[in-house]
Amino acid sequence: MVQRVSTVAFEGIEARAVDVQVQVAPGLPAFYLVGLPDKAVSEARERVRSALIASGLALPARRITVNLAPADLPKEGSHYDLPIALGLMAAIGAIPADALAGFTVLGELGLDGSIAPVAGVLPAAIGANSRDEGLICPAACGSEAAWASPDIQIIAANSLIQIANHFKGTQLLSRPQPKVHEAPASLLDLRDIKGQESAKRALEIAAAGGHHLLMIGAPGAGKSMLAARLPSILPPLSPSELLEVSMIASVAGEIRDGALTARRPFRAPHHSASMAALTGGGLRAKPGEISLAHQGVLFLDELPEFEARVLDSLRAPMENGEVAVSRANHRVTYPARFMLVGAMNPCRCGHAYDPGFACKRGRLERCTADYQSRISGPLMDRIDLRIEVPAVTAADLILPPPSEGSAEVAARVAAARDVQRQRYAAAGLPQVRTNAEAPAAVLEKIARPDTAGAALLRDAAETMQLSARGYHRVLRVARTLADLDGADTIGRLHLAEALSYRALAEDLRRAA
Ligand SMILES: Nc1ncnc2c1ncn2[C@@H]1O[C@H](COP(=O)(O)OP(=O)(O)OP(=O)(O)O)[C@@H](O)[C@H]1O
Ligand SMILES: [Mg+2]
Repeated sequence: MVQRVSTVAFEGIEARAVDVQVQVAPGLPAFYLVGLPDKAVSEARERVRSALIASGLALPARRITVNLAPADLPKEGSHYDLPIALGLMAAIGAIPADALAGFTVLGELGLDGSIAPVAGVLPAAIGANSRDEGLICPAACGSEAAWASPDIQIIAANSLIQIANHFKGTQLLSRPQPKVHEAPASLLDLRDIKGQESAKRALEIAAAGGHHLLMIGAPGAGKSMLAARLPSILPPLSPSELLEVSMIASVAGEIRDGALTARRPFRAPHHSASMAALTGGGLRAKPGEISLAHQGVLFLDELPEFEARVLDSLRAPMENGEVAVSRANHRVTYPARFMLVGAMNPCRCGHAYDPGFACKRGRLERCTADYQSRISGPLMDRIDLRIEVPAVTAADLILPPPSEGSAEVAARVAAARDVQRQRYAAAGLPQVRTNAEAPAAVLEKIARPDTAGAALLRDAAETMQLSARGYHRVLRVARTLADLDGADTIGRLHLAEALSYRALAEDLRRAA
């Protein structure tokens, strides 16, 4: 007889149903595992054998065949241990044969029969819930699974023995409850930054509309410091965003203690990051930094030091909000709607924008052009806000701390984001949450400037030779500026400010 257990395989952040078929048949003692398993799955045999022995059960001296169906779907990871072990236990009568019907099972086994946490429990639970099944998972992941639905049945166990006892009715396991990470007592506050008012304003606009931002300035001007304070002004994730972000974190194995968090992601990979680390993929497909930054911030400090090829791989995701990773035998997509924040010096010595500075390497323009040309024109074209962050003067540093801190800025950002959410919901686009995501076609309706603004935009587009993308991006930033002001129509002032953030970029593009 063949014993069947449901489990899942991950494709992107989706959990596809996989059927584990266990057959114990007469024949020479053997243990076969088939159905396109990768190395970690093949090793399941050894872990299952040891875990069963440690739990007081011996493998029958017969021919055991385990098939993972559908056979053409690649199986990766260590979460197949538990379904295989439970299937075997059912086949030899250690648990009732029908106990596993209506459950999706995933978990990794230790040699002592303990069940170790695995990645992807949240998407697996959501998948199981949509098929009206319960979930059997490691105890450490129980609270994560409980987020899928309040009614889904969950058995979260520490060991094989606990599961056997639960089914026998001698020791019932209670359903785990969803957990949230307590917010950390204090985030870094904008109040720590003296001067830099225009940079703080740009940070606020970027946070309000979800725009990409590039800060260029001398060493020690406070660029890294400004970026590190961005989380303190971003609004918390909405419930639907929370689930989206947590699914990605779950597949990447980045959820700690089964607790989810409503804080927006802030990812700051080092500039030595490889393409696979940034965009995802690799031998065992995992979401990369840009997907882990979904609905949050991707901070790339020292932007020109990143490999050019790696930086250019951001171009497509920045445009369509997802990344497609092609592999030898299949292709997966991960969501990647992030806000890019870059920081860089204007040249190798870092002082090109200081008044009266003479470069030791000879012509200053060449030093600047060399360094800035490491960032390609098309990438630069996608960055809406480009600002100069000049060095702070001693006079600024001696001043008392500014009266306005992160709390006040965060309130304005949250209000502007509310306006945007309502606008796009009313326009029948509930998946669009910020001006940065708004499709160009809708932009013409929602971001129409008044007459004076339209005239300014027409002139500027000609003199600055704005690309079509540049034109739309200016409109988006202007829309955010009007939203921050609480204005319905976009005025000349909003457009002038939006254009000023683009101007530095046009300078840089010419340098490149
Ligand atoms: N505006 C400021 N107000 C208060 N302190 C500042 C300010 N700017 C810089 N500092 C101080 O200088 C230190 C260095 O700043 P930061 O690392 O942000 O510079 P940076 O612009 O990122 O430089 P680099 O280009 O070398 O990376 C900070 O840790 C802080 O102590
Ligand atoms: Mg820095």
